[in-house]
Amino acid sequence: MSMINAALVESFDEPPHVRSVPAPAPAPGQEVVDVLAVGVHPATRGIAAGKHYTSPTSLPALAGADAVVRRADGSLGYVMLMGAGTLAEHIAVDPAAVIPVPDGADPAVLVATMNPALSSWGALRTRVPFQTGQSVLVHGATGNAGSMAVKVARHLGAGHVVAAGRNRSRLDELTTQGADQIVQLTPDQDATAAALARAAAEVDVVLDYVWGPPTELAMRAVLGARTQHTRVLDWVQIGGTGGDAITLSGHALRSNAFRILGSGFGAVDTEVMLREFTELVAAIAAGAMAVRPHPFPLDQVEAAWAHQDAPGERTVILL
Ligand SMILES: NC(=O)c1ccc[n+]([C@@H]2O[C@H](COP(=O)([O-])OP(=O)(O)OC[C@H]3O[C@@H](n4cnc5c(N)ncnc54)[C@H](OP(=O)(O)O)[C@@H]3O)[C@@H](O)[C@H]2O)c1
Repeated sequence: MSMINAALVESFDEPPHVRSVPAPAPAPGQEVVDVLAVGVHPATRGIAAGKHYTSPTSLPALAGADAVVRRADGSLGYVMLMGAGTLAEHIAVDPAAVIPVPDGADPAVLVATMNPALSSWGALRTRVPFQTGQSVLVHGATGNAGSMAVKVARHLGAGHVVAAGRNRSRLDELTTQGADQIVQLTPDQDATAAALARAAAEVDVVLDYVWGPPTELAMRAVLGARTQHTRVLDWVQIGGTGGDAITLSGHALRSNAFRILGSGFGAVDTEVMLREFTELVAAIAAGAMAVRPHPFPLDQVEAAWAHQDAPGERTVILL
């Protein structure tokens, strides 16, 4: 039997470990591809820790959620196999799920950038009726996905982008990358609420990477300061760096044309997602946006899991 190297999750309490496993046996209609690069995103870590809605229900399981792959014809592709695993020298995939990657694209940059960027791309293109010229607040704009959201909103035609986050120097950088206004989220709740109210009272869409208590504060501030109560405000929950739950008063929902919805893999039809992400791959390959990859080889998967990304970088495993 032919064997390959793969990173397996054997316990939700440990990082994945490299093991020798049988080469993939493709099901009818599948093809076997070479894996070139895999991103270690918050979702990748969450899945491997048993904390994501696509976490495996039995172990051991293959780690990894996305990959840049090389197909038998030599072309490159990007796959998102949330919950199915990608961190092996070869994997079997459904050809329809492979998003074409233009020649010359850097697999490490692409895999570092796709997951952070697709969160806002998917939200604005598939979850809300976003129109050119509308204004967007990115709540939690200083992480990779949030800072990509500033660029993506601008790329997709936002008329005004407000970036809110904790890290002041990252916020300052965002003013040269698409943000018209910045709001620093500080421990001073009154000052934070006042700054959000001033900058974001009339936005059309909020892309929220924080949730939890900071979002409760932000919702109260924005809704309380809104002057056009019937102007629709779509608040899109994308990430949960500030907590997984909020308390919301019924008053908030009744007092404005306020809609809350989420955006993630479970919320978008696969065909729609593949169509949208083909365009996003092309935009990243053309240099419209990039997260800096921090590469590790497969045999250092434990070190890769232990590495904490600096602002603007993403751990990537190269095979
Ligand atoms: N639904 C989707 O499709 C999707 C896709 C990608 C990512 N996500 C989610 O989005 C979130 C961010 O992902 P990422 O890739 O950007 O991760 P990341 O690069 O690790 O950034 C996380 C950032 O969150 C900020 N943060 C942490 N606690 C915060 C708080 N209490 N208030 C405000 N900001 C806080 C930190 O920035 P500062 O220290 O500067 O504040 C940190 O840089 C994660 O929850 C991830 O799972 C969702």
